[in-house]
Amino acid sequence: MRHSICILLACGLIMAVMLHLSVKETPLDIPVIYVITPTHTRPTQKADLTQLGNTLRQVPNLHWIVVEDADFKSPLVAKFLLNLRISYTHLNVPKPDYCKSGCVARGSEQRNLGLDWLRRNRGPLDSGVVYFGDDDNTYDLEVFEEMRYTKHVSVWPVGLIGSRRYERPLVRDGRVVSWYTRYPGRRFCTDMAGFAVNLNLILANPEARFNLKGAKAGMQESDFLSKITKLEYLEPRANNCTKVLVWHTRTEKASLHEHVTENVDIEV
Ligand SMILES: *[C@@H]1O[C@H](CO)[C@@H](O)[C@H](O)[C@H]1NC(C)=O
Repeated sequence: MRHSICILLACGLIMAVMLHLSVKETPLDIPVIYVITPTHTRPTQKADLTQLGNTLRQVPNLHWIVVEDADFKSPLVAKFLLNLRISYTHLNVPKPDYCKSGCVARGSEQRNLGLDWLRRNRGPLDSGVVYFGDDDNTYDLEVFEEMRYTKHVSVWPVGLIGSRRYERPLVRDGRVVSWYTRYPGRRFCTDMAGFAVNLNLILANPEARFNLKGAKAGMQESDFLSKITKLEYLEPRANNCTKVLVWHTRTEKASLHEHVTENVDIEV
């Protein structure tokens, strides 16, 4: 009797140790997903960040790089990130003066700063994948596992874009051959949300940045990808690009027309 209790206890102990190890070790064994998110002050900012944060906090081994379009880091974003309790880096850079009245390449400066951070803080021995995840899209958790083991550049469809239900890479025999898009004439007809890049490819190509000056509308993604890859190297994901796992939903602009005196004791 006493013998079997001892065996039971020993088994329990071994299992507890194994469970502990597996919980501790899993995050180290899989590539890190680096999500770069530009964000700017607006009435829906905290709501948008909350939605995205609730998604990202469910993804194992993810590091969120949030880059504010601002002269200073805002207390709103700083506090939000602290409370989220995931791995993150909070950066800020204002858009250049010549963009103050509106540039077509929104978020470029912020994405570039995110890339700079990676180039300064990560090395060739780090395994990971880089994704540009804007704060007003909707993400199926599956999209993160689809991108995690990207060897080079992976691609997949994006929903609700270009006035269509979706745009997508067209795949033949497991290779991307062209695009289903409203705006052809680009080498890579994909949205920011439709691709991910292996971290080492980012580190090995310091010239890969987003153009601000002279950038044409809708050309950011294609120009960026042209610097690091070719069509034939793309890795189609999401079941050979037949599944939509991310949507360009965009939050409706809040209409705050009523001019009222707001309470001072409320956090919004
Ligand atoms: C994609 O297509 C290729 C070639 O037709 C096939 O071998 C492969 O199994 C497909 N992959 C998936 C995930 O369906």
